[in-house]
Amino acid sequence: MKYQTIRSLLAAALLASWLPLCGQTSATPEQRANLLLSKMSVDEKVGQLNQVFDFSGLPGMPAPAQKLEDQVRQGQIGSILFVTDPKRINALQKIAVSEGAHIPILFGFDVIHGFDTEFPVPVGMAASWDPEMARKAQSVAAEEAVHAGVRWTFAPMLDIARDPRWGRISEGAGEDPYLGAAMARAQVKGFQGEPGQPLRFAATLKHFAGYGAAEGGRDYDASYIPEELLQNVYLRPFQAGVEAGAKSVMSAYMDLNDVPATGNTHLLREILRDQMKFNGFVVSDANAVGDLYTHGFSSDAKDAAFRAAVAGVNMDMGSGTYLKNLKQLVTEGKVSATALDDLVRPILATKFALGLFDSPYADGDESTHAVMLAKHRDLARVAAARSAVLLRNEGGVLPLAKTTRRIAVIGPLGDSQYDMNGPWSLTAKPADTVTIVAGIRNKLPGADVRFAQGVQLRKQFPSMFDGLIGPKPEAEWDADKAEATMKEALSLANDSDVVVLALGESALMDFEYASRSSLALPGRQQELLEKIVATGKPVVLLLFSTRPLDVTWASQHVSAIMDCYFGGTETGNAVADLLFGDVSPAGKLPVTWPRNAGQIPIYYAHNLSHKPYGAPDFTSRYWDLPTEPLYPFGFGLSYASFEISNLRLSKKEIHTKDPVTAVVTVKNAGKVKADEVVQLYLHQKSGSASRPVRELKGFQRITLAPGESRDVSFVVGAAERTYWSSATHGWTLDASEFDVWAGDSSTASLHDTFSVVQ
Ligand code: NOJ
Repeated sequence: MKYQTIRSLLAAALLASWLPLCGQTSATPEQRANLLLSKMSVDEKVGQLNQVFDFSGLPGMPAPAQKLEDQVRQGQIGSILFVTDPKRINALQKIAVSEGAHIPILFGFDVIHGFDTEFPVPVGMAASWDPEMARKAQSVAAEEAVHAGVRWTFAPMLDIARDPRWGRISEGAGEDPYLGAAMARAQVKGFQGEPGQPLRFAATLKHFAGYGAAEGGRDYDASYIPEELLQNVYLRPFQAGVEAGAKSVMSAYMDLNDVPATGNTHLLREILRDQMKFNGFVVSDANAVGDLYTHGFSSDAKDAAFRAAVAGVNMDMGSGTYLKNLKQLVTEGKVSATALDDLVRPILATKFALGLFDSPYADGDESTHAVMLAKHRDLARVAAARSAVLLRNEGGVLPLAKTTRRIAVIGPLGDSQYDMNGPWSLTAKPADTVTIVAGIRNKLPGADVRFAQGVQLRKQFPSMFDGLIGPKPEAEWDADKAEATMKEALSLANDSDVVVLALGESALMDFEYASRSSLALPGRQQELLEKIVATGKPVVLLLFSTRPLDVTWASQHVSAIMDCYFGGTETGNAVADLLFGDVSPAGKLPVTWPRNAGQIPIYYAHNLSHKPYGAPDFTSRYWDLPTEPLYPFGFGLSYASFEISNLRLSKKEIHTKDPVTAVVTVKNAGKVKADEVVQLYLHQKSGSASRPVRELKGFQRITLAPGESRDVSFVVGAAERTYWSSATHGWTLDASEFDVWAGDSSTASLHDTFSVVQ
């Protein structure tokens, strides 16, 4: 090589190494990461793969061990989770950037549905069928978290959940891959912004993959999912999240088809990297790398580190297994230097993309919380109202007249600020939250709004989370107290014009490590409900929970039932808007609502079978229960009434790659302005494999004034018809006849057909 060339190469290298450090570079985050990698020791690289918990901000937890600061100083920590105090974040960050490896720490936290301001729990957001609202909510959550110095969330959770015994149904979008994909896209865009925009906050798609299919709905148990179900159902939301540009993915805890997800090369390399083209970094779920040994998969901790690294887990959350073993694995040549760099690179690139090298500190202080809350309360109120699903409204009991004077709010969830925020609301302050009692009082300042708890709500077996991140579990009431409290509620009901019953589950009954065997209303709530209905007073039942509950009795005896999930900070005001008709409910169920736990799993997109439902005999059913669910997927009532008619297809015959457009006319035939969610379902009638009876392939939430009509159109393209076939072992687009239905739920009957030819 000529002297001149060598000299200019050297000059370029020098320039390149100088520029990124002062932040004046046009190099990409990956280029900057590569340059930094070339200067790092193996110890420093391994440090970047280590994420540690710091729980010291949680009430009752011990002060942080000095060890954490020392570890930062020694460059042994790439990320810390659970610190949300900007002062502490800045103090730790200062050590990280000025000592040790001089690399900023990525502070992560479970920002699931809010930070200062809580929005509805994710399954509630999904019930709004309004991805744009979910995008806005998560963009607010990101803005609030960034002020605190948290730059990375472990959300959105994209696990399809078809078993409501699983407590984490609360964090996802329910049972359907199409709705799940729409909510995935929206949330990633909310957290991160559009791809190409400057990044301030990184999202995590979790839990990869199949966590929602835990056997028996028992959190942490193994999942067994055949490839076709994995591809067609469980992975679709993840694909959407990857395409939206999500920076990280969390590998799940559990065994998937006998291989723990965190050591699963098929899942993390062949599917995630090769098939889905994910190029961010994978973080394990808590301690999941170390737990590869517990599973009986790895022979010891070193083997666990090896197998997680080989599978492509970039960051070890909490177990310290990488920190203790990876260097030795590199020294022994079991993990190559290139493989180590490949693990570190996307983490560094994300830190560069987030601007952490240029601006590592948080700008929030004691006043930020109140400022954020004031700015975002209005949106939280809209979001909570948009999430509620009206399940029953016999005789038009709702909306209630604003002239109602004596209102009894009864039930353990009627005045609970903590529960209204919902699970995973650790940084929200319950004192900011509007309960049902407060919301109704705000709406009707002149009314007499009184509250009685009626019954106690408690878990038979509390988990370690109860009392740690929520209120301490209460001792069981003795018989006298239980009777007196029930009596008080009945006498309040008798002394009122209307009873608003707030029943369901407490927030921590719908969480991690919170599976249940039954869907009954916990405790003595069913008894309370029946006694209140027996008073003869008009009753509105508000349900708070994220799993469907067994309300079969209520569905026959209570005039009005509204599922409110947990709406977040503004729950009470939003519910009052709905109760008194300022807003018409328009949420739709994101899960099929079973009659009882015996019907689980029940979901609308099941296969047709050789004895389809509705056949005169030999149909798959129980002899003690109707086959149909209590409420179907996509169902929800309104104060208006909508007519959906005139389904028109652009073509009756198309070629496999062509799209067909379906148009319907929607009319608000009611008396109030309201929203309707128009849904489109598809069924492939023949092909290389059996296909579900119907699958959601389009939806739109629209607002119509009384008497107003609008055409709504859906494009059904090749993507909507492509599926993974176990017969061809690949993605398949068949020539077939297709059914199309349009309507207001998964039982829509407006129908047409079209044919796809080769
Ligand atoms: C365990 C949970 O499964 C996961 O969802 C969460 O993000 C981590 N803990 C961190 O809190």
